[in-house]
Amino acid sequence: MSSPDSPVVEAKAVSKKFADRVAVDGLDLQVSPRLCFGLLGPNGAGKTTTLRMIYGVTRPTSGMVRVFGMDVGRNLRAVRSRLGVTLQQNALIEALSPRANLLVFGRYHLLRQPELSRRAEELIDFFELRSHADLPVRQLSGGFQRRLAIALSLMNQPELLVLDEPTTGLDPAVRLALWSRIRELRAGGTTVLITTHYMDEAQRLCDRVAIISAGKVIREGAPENLIAATLAPETVEFDCSSGEEASLLDGFGSMRHVRVGRRLMLYLDDSTSLIEHIRRRDQGDRRPIVVRPTNLEDVFLSLTGTGLEGNS
Ligand SMILES: Nc1ncnc2c1ncn2[C@@H]1O[C@H](COP(=O)(O)OP(=O)(O)OP(=O)(O)O)[C@@H](O)[C@H]1O
Ligand SMILES: [Mg+2]
Repeated sequence: MSSPDSPVVEAKAVSKKFADRVAVDGLDLQVSPRLCFGLLGPNGAGKTTTLRMIYGVTRPTSGMVRVFGMDVGRNLRAVRSRLGVTLQQNALIEALSPRANLLVFGRYHLLRQPELSRRAEELIDFFELRSHADLPVRQLSGGFQRRLAIALSLMNQPELLVLDEPTTGLDPAVRLALWSRIRELRAGGTTVLITTHYMDEAQRLCDRVAIISAGKVIREGAPENLIAATLAPETVEFDCSSGEEASLLDGFGSMRHVRVGRRLMLYLDDSTSLIEHIRRRDQGDRRPIVVRPTNLEDVFLSLTGTGLEGNS
């Protein structure tokens, strides 16, 4: 039996190999109850494969995945009845309307009237789908289809909500509404496991994040702690060609920095002397310099690289 504080998700030394490719490579993960936990990582890092193993649509090649203290492979139905999932690819019945999709999905979870319709109507309102509730799903825009996919994952009032890039393609108002819904669910005791490529979203929403690279967790912690443990607190950002970098930064070159194209970001405890130094080098020509607090995106870039080569 699992106690109220035992991990909701526990993965130990989990690997998933496809023919010639290792998607997940000895991954360890523990998600405690009532947290919003973020899985972050570059394209191809293994996030979706990890979520698919937690949901039980993909079997691990080796290692153990337990959800609610149960082995997922052996307790699929019991795990799924307590779990809601929105995968990266929407799983919608395109010929049916949003309302019909919600009802079909609710019946799959053995909901009966009037509760079935009550939950469907509540989710139609929450995701502002009412004006589209009776159109075939295939006529809906991508953002509306995404709203419906997320609504479906909430039909069974899950204890664990798994969301794979839920906010990709959502307009800003719906994204903010979803964040507030996720916070409400978490306050009500739901555990949320989410992937996102938006680091501002992860920083604002998640209690803890794990950064995954090439199928392994490379860092884990509360966003603020991860930032403080990885980089200095101030970031200085400006444009500078790689040819110009060595002479411009003379004396500051050993500092932790990240380059994305022409953009250079340096991490320091105090930016004053660096800015004075650049102003002296530039003489009359004042290049725009941004000074800001170091954030989770900086940590992500410094740990996972910045190129387009990724892991895929
Ligand atoms: N069914 C499959 N067959 C073969 N290779 C696969 C399969 N599914 C995933 N992969 C590979 O496994 C690796 C991890 O993929 P995954 O979809 O888990 O990454 P991800 O972190 O979710 O990436 P993204 O941010 O792009 O969604 C990739 O190299 C991918 O090509
Ligand atoms: Mg993915």
